[in-house]
Amino acid sequence: MDEIRIVPTTEAHVDGFRRCVDAVARERRYLGFVTGPPLEQSRAFVRMLLDGGGVQVLAVQGVGEVVGWCDVIRDAREGFGHGWRLGIGLLPAARGRGIGRRLAQAGIAAAVARGAERIELEVFASNARAIALYERLGFVREGVKHRARKLDGRYEDNVLMALLVDASAGGGTAATESSPAT
Ligand SMILES: CC(C)(COP(=O)(O)OP(=O)(O)OC[C@H]1O[C@@H](n2cnc3c(N)ncnc32)[C@H](O)[C@@H]1OP(=O)(O)O)[C@@H](O)C(=O)NCCC(=O)NCCS
Repeated sequence: MDEIRIVPTTEAHVDGFRRCVDAVARERRYLGFVTGPPLEQSRAFVRMLLDGGGVQVLAVQGVGEVVGWCDVIRDAREGFGHGWRLGIGLLPAARGRGIGRRLAQAGIAAAVARGAERIELEVFASNARAIALYERLGFVREGVKHRARKLDGRYEDNVLMALLVDASAGGGTAATESSPAT
């Protein structure tokens, strides 16, 4: 694989983003859905983010092929706007090389810059690599939804995790780990 860059999303990336989500969803292991959304739905989602509903960064290679995404979406309800929700994924060939960490750090930093104080997510209990990444970034386990999914005859627990941003330390310190970013 070529060198991978982390870039903010634009409308020009929508198709690549959708294809990337679809490929990861079809693995039937990591995401809460088993196919990607239709193109128009992906476009509306990205527009919603660009209009201030959240942030998204992408991992791209070559001339702009999308190999991963990280979005963090603001909870629009009154009283919950400090709480954001993170989603992330990489194509198989991009995994295990620290790119997930770079993507997540960039997404979290962008969300914190826009006022995120709490970032939450759900992850399947069997997804050890994702859980290791989240814990390294400061997320803690808040609970478990037992047998949350039943797919292909197998149950999966869903682990609820959250990162509380330490505003007293300048904002975002919990979102960046102690070792140097790559
Ligand atoms: C989860 C995901 C984003 C992580 O990104 P990544 O680039 O593959 O992960 P990294 O290389 O940054 O490694 C993350 C950490 O997990 C550790 N790790 C790797 N494989 C592991 C495994 N099998 N078990 C436990 N820890 C593992 C790494 O050592 C690393 O920790 P470190 O930084 O302390 O060394 C990526 O693997 C992915 O897209 N997976 C499929 C989709 C998915 O699971 N999305 C999240 C849904 S909640």
